[in-house]
Amino acid sequence: MQTALPTPMLAGLSPAQFMRRHWQKKPLLVRQAFAGVTPPASLKDLAALAARDGVESRLVTAFDGEWKLKQGPIARLPAMSKPGWTLLVQGLDQHLAEARALLDRFRFVPDARLDDLMLSIASDGGGVGPHFDSYDVFLIQLAGRRRWRIGAQRDAVLRDDVPLKIIANFAPEEEFVLDAGDMLYLPPGWAHDGIAVGPGCVTGSVGFRASTAEGLAAELLPRLFDDLDETGKLYADPRQEASIEPARVPVALLDFARRAVEAAVQRPQALERALGEALTEPKAQVWFEPGEPLPPGQGAALDRRSRMLYDEAHVFLNGESFRAGGRDAALMRRLADNRTLNAAEVARLSADARELLDQWTEDGWMQPLTA
Ligand code: SIN
Ligand code: CO
Repeated sequence: MQTALPTPMLAGLSPAQFMRRHWQKKPLLVRQAFAGVTPPASLKDLAALAARDGVESRLVTAFDGEWKLKQGPIARLPAMSKPGWTLLVQGLDQHLAEARALLDRFRFVPDARLDDLMLSIASDGGGVGPHFDSYDVFLIQLAGRRRWRIGAQRDAVLRDDVPLKIIANFAPEEEFVLDAGDMLYLPPGWAHDGIAVGPGCVTGSVGFRASTAEGLAAELLPRLFDDLDETGKLYADPRQEASIEPARVPVALLDFARRAVEAAVQRPQALERALGEALTEPKAQVWFEPGEPLPPGQGAALDRRSRMLYDEAHVFLNGESFRAGGRDAALMRRLADNRTLNAAEVARLSADARELLDQWTEDGWMQPLTA
């Protein structure tokens, strides 16, 4: 991606300027960020997705002023002519190639931070109420119109009488009506309320992910220990004295435990490996369709559901890590960044790396590149 080139998608800023000036700092309204855009899914497609098990969806209604939330699968939607409802479908990028392509436009943010594309479709007046999110979001108007009111509210209090996180003391500072193709970026914590103006309002939300330090540690620690080689060395206490407090934890045992944990964490590449594997772990509802080994002479593309990252010593794919060096590493990094390798690039892989590619296409993590 050309990070220094100004783009209409970011109101004439380059991705580099956007990241410096706006990312995690202040909102940006972009008129016609995606001129001529059409939604990656119709109302019928979205309704069908929302009815499926394993697709995360929610129906929010505010009929007669009463907020209600129904978690998916949603068997039946209200009529589009009935005002005050909105359907939200998460993870569209896993289901539709067009949605994945839209999400890919935001890869000037590292893949490790990019989460998914959510689509909402609303009847007139539909919305989820004034709220704030803990993550950055790009809100793309894909069809119809939506009025957004936003504010940098720091004293938000949530209502306790509704099944949604709705701000009781919402104090918007700015208001914009977004038409199809317009986009609004909001940093984490900004209060916002988007209300559909007319029926058939489709909004895409590019969502990001971030962990708390504790959450990340809890995720990484078990992984750090799952490839430990047993030394077979048992705790020994030849200097243990006769105890008058038999229930007390021996200090030497605590020291032994501390050294064991520190040694496991400090092993070369252990944290790097655990982090890469954790970051590429597919989401719970993701499954891959098994395929055939890659036919000779063909390029290959990552499946839209595959998560691939790399660091100095590894490539990571769908929760697994592979050591890579030299030309193979360079080609695998290209695959991760471009999400494709052409036939000439595939031909330059070593026999071992080529075998891995066959395994990955058999697992459905990649597919032959179609023209
Ligand atoms: C929506 O698309 O209706 C809600 C998205 C959001 O406010 O985060
Ligand atoms: Co929001």
